[in-house]
Amino acid sequence: LVRLAVVGAGGWGKNHLRVLHDLGHLVAFCEIDIDKRRTYEEKYGIKGYASFDEMVSREKLDGVTICTPTVTHFSVAKEALLHGLHTFVEKPLTSKSYEGERLVELSKSSDLFLTVGFIERFNPAVSQLKSLVEEKRIGETLLLEFHRENKWLGTIKDVGIIEDTAVHDIDTARWIFEKEPYIVFARAGNVLSQTKEDFAIITLGFSENKSAFIMSNWVTPKRIRTLTTVCTGGVVTLDFITQELRIDDEKGTTIPRRRIEEPLMLELKAFAESIEKRQPPLVTPEDGLNTTRIAEAASASAQSNAPIFLNLN
Ligand SMILES: NC(=O)c1ccc[n+]([C@@H]2O[C@H](COP(=O)([O-])OP(=O)(O)OC[C@H]3O[C@@H](n4cnc5c(N)ncnc54)[C@H](O)[C@@H]3O)[C@@H](O)[C@H]2O)c1
Repeated sequence: LVRLAVVGAGGWGKNHLRVLHDLGHLVAFCEIDIDKRRTYEEKYGIKGYASFDEMVSREKLDGVTICTPTVTHFSVAKEALLHGLHTFVEKPLTSKSYEGERLVELSKSSDLFLTVGFIERFNPAVSQLKSLVEEKRIGETLLLEFHRENKWLGTIKDVGIIEDTAVHDIDTARWIFEKEPYIVFARAGNVLSQTKEDFAIITLGFSENKSAFIMSNWVTPKRIRTLTTVCTGGVVTLDFITQELRIDDEKGTTIPRRRIEEPLMLELKAFAESIEKRQPPLVTPEDGLNTTRIAEAASASAQSNAPIFLNLN
């Protein structure tokens, strides 16, 4: 069985611990906070380490999942790859694209898998949308409109909403269109946060006049996570939270029935299977790098009030 450890047992890492424990892959974890170490050592009956080096020298591991704050992803992932471990990094791959470039090189030269937690690719509703688009069931896809909004809780301090939240939708847009955008225009600012942007509106322009509109904010008091896909033959609306998908076309309205599944469970299961079967993960290191490059362009656009042209294709 594939042996995995989690690095960072905070708000999100605790879910990795639970899911990997349920899947039978969890053998250890690393967390610098002593109270959290004690809590999860007791809960899962495994060793929690304060030091990553100590963990990798004592435990026999195939890979790690990294759930530390975004600005630390580069240094932790670099260590993991240098220690010969398959590496799953929570989104975004890195805060800066030059860091991502180093990780991409490291994973290539080492033959290790490096993947990024773009969890929406494992949301069953998004998988279904992807199939509908590929089969051209409702014609050509023209426009994707994303809304990811909720009230700021003040817990994320290291990065703003573009790096933290909009990256989910940047990756999904790239995946649905199977292209990289060549133009980015964004507006952003802060209302509740003192230091980082907490709202952003990003327009991505792709070839053949395809576009994505990404609205992310930590201002709206309600939790909204939706995607509207406008195609030449109709519209698909999707709710990331309820996993409901609705197709409106000339035949009327269709709401396919589907089992609700936990995206994190599907995502981490897929990571373990990649290692076991030696098959590259769905999310490639380049997906992580290009998403960070696009997020950087969005920040630069918002700061300069100008569109940014990219050449990633
Ligand atoms: N995919 C998703 O839907 C999703 C959701 C939430 C968060 N995330 C990502 O998960 C990551 C963590 O977010 P969070 O909200 O859990 O943050 P958090 O601050 O709650 O947790 C981070 C934890 O990492 C620990 N830590 C920091 N540096 C460490 C190190 N070097 N070694 C070991 N432990 C260390 C901290 O003590 C803390 O417990 C972020 O990158 C975030 O973007 C992804």
